[in-house]
Formats: sequence, structure tokens, C-alpha cells
Amino acid sequence: MTEPSAATPTDAAPAPTSGLENLLTEARRFPPSPEFAAQANATADLYSWANADRTTFWAEQARELLTWSTPFTQTLDWSDAPFARWFADGRLNAAYNAVDRHVEAGHGDRVALHFEGEGGDTRALTYADLQREVSKAANAIAALGVRTGDRVAIYMPLIPEAVVAMLACARIGAPHSVVFGGFSAEALSSRILDAEATLVITADGGFRRGSASALKPAVDEALAKGAPSVQHVLVVRRTGQPVEWTEGRDVWWHDAVEAASAQHAPVEVEAEHPLFILYTSGTTGKPKGIFHTTGGYLAQAAYTHLNVFDLKPETDVYWCTADIGWVTGHTYVVYGPLVNGATQVIYEGTPDTPHRGRWWEIVQKYGVTILYTAPTAIRTCMKWGEEIPGQFDLSSLRVLGSVGEPINPEAWTWYRRVIGGDRTPVVDTWWQTETGAIMISPLPGVTEAKPGSAQVPLPGIAADVLDDDAKPVPNGAGGYLVLTEPWPSMLRGIWGDPERYKDTYWSRFPGMYFAGDGAKKDEDGDIWLLGRVDDVMNVSGHRLSTTEIESALVSHPWVAEAAVVGATDETTGQAVVAFVILRGDATEAAGSDAATVQQTLRDHVAREIGPIAKPRQILVVAELPKTRSGKIMRRLLRDVAEHRQVGDATTLADSSVMDLIAAGLNKPAASSD
Ligand code: WTA
Repeated sequence: MTEPSAATPTDAAPAPTSGLENLLTEARRFPPSPEFAAQANATADLYSWANADRTTFWAEQARELLTWSTPFTQTLDWSDAPFARWFADGRLNAAYNAVDRHVEAGHGDRVALHFEGEGGDTRALTYADLQREVSKAANAIAALGVRTGDRVAIYMPLIPEAVVAMLACARIGAPHSVVFGGFSAEALSSRILDAEATLVITADGGFRRGSASALKPAVDEALAKGAPSVQHVLVVRRTGQPVEWTEGRDVWWHDAVEAASAQHAPVEVEAEHPLFILYTSGTTGKPKGIFHTTGGYLAQAAYTHLNVFDLKPETDVYWCTADIGWVTGHTYVVYGPLVNGATQVIYEGTPDTPHRGRWWEIVQKYGVTILYTAPTAIRTCMKWGEEIPGQFDLSSLRVLGSVGEPINPEAWTWYRRVIGGDRTPVVDTWWQTETGAIMISPLPGVTEAKPGSAQVPLPGIAADVLDDDAKPVPNGAGGYLVLTEPWPSMLRGIWGDPERYKDTYWSRFPGMYFAGDGAKKDEDGDIWLLGRVDDVMNVSGHRLSTTEIESALVSHPWVAEAAVVGATDETTGQAVVAFVILRGDATEAAGSDAATVQQTLRDHVAREIGPIAKPRQILVVAELPKTRSGKIMRRLLRDVAEHRQVGDATTLADSSVMDLIAAGLNKPAASSD
């Protein structure tokens, strides 16, 4: 399947999220303090070293940061571009690198995970504990028939067993496919089918906003749709709620894992052996299975984690608030920190349970020194007021990170002042599921920070901003962000669909990776990210596809046609706004009640994809604006959704449509939950 709109982002944009244009006037500068610079892991000479010989630079990082059972002699093979091979003749095991070698080096007593359950239950797992648990789990899943190369789906809350499950898969070389626990049975089913998973690891449920929410029923529902590859379901008991049980298929984690031997020899795999698949939204309705391999991914995960966060494994307490269902949870909860031997916090719940100071209480309790979170969370905390973090001792913090969406300068400076005590560097890190690890970011201790800008490609990374004709834009101008050289943690493809990989990322600008983001270069040549230029939305830092939500809406019997746009939202960055045309009999079916129609359709989207995809607003319209060739003009709908003057509508087949839609808007609309 191809992705035409990724390659031709014409109608969709380039549409920098409104309000971000004036970022370039931001004049505040935050140089690193001399004290921080003096102790920083990364120094300015990293840039010149990497620039002098990029390939050798990466080879040295990979040798330095990882333990290879068979050392590699080849660094990069780009002869079959865009299919890269890094460190290809080397062999290693990801779980050995993340766990065992730290125990062998005498750090078995160091805490790897401080787990904080939403209800206040806690557990600490040392590296020695982790080695035992991961080995047992690896033996248990091998006993369930999982072999090197088989895929395992993981659908779990953020509890230690989720990390153990991922590492157990890595230990036997079975690529995991983690599906975010907030996704629906439908979404889980399509991901299980696409990866042909043989095992699903799940839990009875997890704790969310003060109560137990179930996960196992979604697995049962997904498998009931038909999943011929799945042999077993391994279930962690977390909440104790009753579960349906399929004898012969379902196995309790505590039965299988606790009985298993704690001795397990990690399976050495080739550097290019797939480590995981992670599905992400593209510009078509079908999520893409982005897959990453072992050696290059781990090398860049460890390198970025060490240098961007200035990690000192002996003394730091690191906390990344991402869920393992997203790439940030893969690279900066599981692989980066553990490969570096860090001590970290993982927290199961939401920031406001049982009170709005919960995160800051956790920072104080564990003495968190490095915090990595998303702008949407920062903006939410800003809204709640600075008195809340003000009640806690946050003086342990020394580095703050941001990821997932552009961070506006106001949120950046608030984050540094209120959370970082006007003292800490803030690193705004740009990357994607596809890039596997951080690509563009300041280096704390080196870069003079500019609020709102991710600034410069990391040493070893090459990026540029191009215009429509593939020419680099001059400083002060905007265009499309591209990566001009291969990098170790780059995706190796889309699972089962090499053509889609080439079309999506490598056809818009031949020879270069097209990220799908708009960007500008400022006077100094620093990069400012401006949001997606394709049909991908970014809601609270989560990627959603307009087409996927449109498909979900039209799968409802009441809906004849649907168009979805991402409208600027003060807190979530963007919000989903849907325009729908109802079938003739729908209004009747709903009892002519607009509120019922809207509520029903919002719930339907939540069921089809997951609650995060629920439209903030659904507007019932009589017509949709289309070009003469039948393409929906989302640009105009975005104007409506953002309450702007509607732009140039001259290419519309029927120019009265926008008047009709605007008139319809005066009727009451559904509000968000
Ligand atoms: C956006 C998340 C601006 C961007 C790691 C990208 C950002 C998409 C930033 C990837 C940032 C991520 N500044 N935008 N610092 N970080 N993005 O795959 O649009 O969930 O293409 O990976 O998030 O989202 P994904």
C-alpha cells in the first residue's frame, strides 16, 4: 500500500501549527552553567569528532556502550539503500546488555526499577532481581512454544512485569510488539494479525484514575475475531478482578514464571535481528508496523540516553513518564536506561491521582534527578497552577527533557523555572518511532538553549530543512525536515511491506529520509519544529491518523461521510475535530437528537481505536468541501475548527459549501469529556 499524501503534502499543508510562526522572535537564551558544563558527559568536541568521520564515530559508540558476544568488523552497509545494515557481522543480546552485564560488573544490588503503583503500592527491583525475573520469564515463554524470531504481542499496564516481558522476549530473540493498553480490542486484533504473534502477554487489568480497569476482556475480544497464529495468552494478575478463562490457551504468569528456572542463557543474535515492532499511525487508515533491529538501535539508545540526559548511572534517579506502549517507553524507559545501568522510576497511573501533586510527590520521594516528559503534561500542570509543584521539594532535579510535540516557549520557560528551579538545563528532543532514538536536541552542558527550539542534530546525525524543490532553505526560512545520512537506530522497514517503507519515507526527496514534519531554520541555523505536514495529528504527543479516524467514523451505520482535522488546542497541542455527513435515516434512528448522535459517534471511535482518538468535537454537516477532483479540503475545515476566517476556497467544486458549514456551526456542538 502506498501513502500518496505523505509524498505530496499539498492540500494537507505545509501548515505550521498556528501561533508557532512567531517562535522565531523568541530571544531568551539559557547557557549551561559553568558547574553543569564542568561535569557534563558530552563536550563540544563530540561534534567535531562525529563530523570528521561519522561512521567511525558510530562504530566507537557501539563498541564502547554495548557488550558484543561477537565483535563487528563492518559498520554501515548502505549498498541496498534505503535498507540499512549496521554492525551487521556482530552478535549480541539486548537483555544481556540491559541486565546481566551490570550484575557481572558488580552492580547487582543497584536498583533498576522503583515501581510506584497508582494506588501507592511500591516495589524495587535491583539488577540482580531483574536478571532473575527476566530469566524465569524467558524460560516460561520458551516453554509456551515461543522460539527465536517468533513475535509476541504485549498488552499491559505500566508494571514491572511489562518491562520483564519485553526483556524476556529480547532474551530469546523473539521480537515484541507492544500495543498501548489504551487501544481497543479492534486495534489490538489488527496488530496481532499483522505481526502474526504466537503469544499475547497481558494482565487482568491495571489501575487508572483510582479504579481497576480491565485489559483481559479486550484480548479475549481481539482473539475471538480470529487470530490463527496465537497459541497462548500469558496473564499477569495485577488487579485481582475476575477474568474469563480459555482452558488450554490462557496461562497465569504467576504459575508459569514462578515455577520456571532462574537460569537462562541469552540467545546471541545478529546485530540486524529484529528487536521489536511498534505500530504507529501513518497517513492511511492502516497503522504501520515500524520495526527496529538489535545492534544499531541499542547503540543509539544508549548513546543518546547518556549524552542528552547527562546520565550518571551511580548517582542519578531517572524518570521518563512515557508508557511502554509508545516508542519513548521503549527507548527511554526500557532499553536506553537499562543498557546504561541507570536507576529509574516507573509509575503506573495518571498525574492527578489521587491529587494533582502526585508527580511532584514522586520526584520528592525518590529524589528524581532527571525528568523526561511531554509538553502536554507540562501545559496541564501550568493550568493547575504553580502552587502545586511549589508544595514539594524538587531540588534533586538537574536535567529536564521534553518530547513528543513542539514545546511552546511559555511552557519551556515555566518548566525550567517552576520545576527546574531556574537552574536545570531543558532539552527539547525531536525524534520519531521511526528514528528509534533522539535525533535533534541540545546537549546539556554544551548548547546555549533557546526555549521552543530542538536546535541541532546530535553529533553523528545529519538533518536539513528543504523547500519544495529539495533545496536546503536559507537561515530564516521554513520547509520540510529531512535526515540526510543513515543513522544506527533508523527503522529497518515497515513489517511485511518494504514498498510502503520506500514510498512513505524515501520518495518525496530521493536519497533522503522525509520525516513528515515542517521545520524552520532561524538566523543561527537552529531548527524549530512546526508540526506535521501530512495527515497525521499529534494529540497530547500521541500520533493519530486523520484517515484512521475517518474510517472508524464511516464504519458506523449512521455515517455516510467523514472528514477529520487536527485543530490547535491549548493543552493537548492538537485536538481531533470531525465533520460528518449522516445517512438519511440516521437522525431518525437517533431520535433526532444531535447530542445523542455526537455521543454515539465519539464512543464508537473510542471502541474502534481507543479513547485517545475520541474526537473533541463532532460537527454534523450537510456537505464537505471538496476540490473538483473530489479531494476533501481539510485546510478549510481546519480554519473552521480553529474559528479562523476561512481561507482561499476558489478550488472548491461548490463554493457555497463553506457557507453551509459555517451556518451549521451556530448550532450547539458536542463538548469534550
Ligand atoms: C512530533 C515520539 C516537535 C513530530 C518520540 C514527530 C516533536 C512525531 C518532538 C513523532 C519535538 C516529537 N518537537 N515535535 N521535540 N518530538 N515530535 O512517533 O511531529 O510518537 O514526527 O515519536 O512527534 O511521534 P512518535
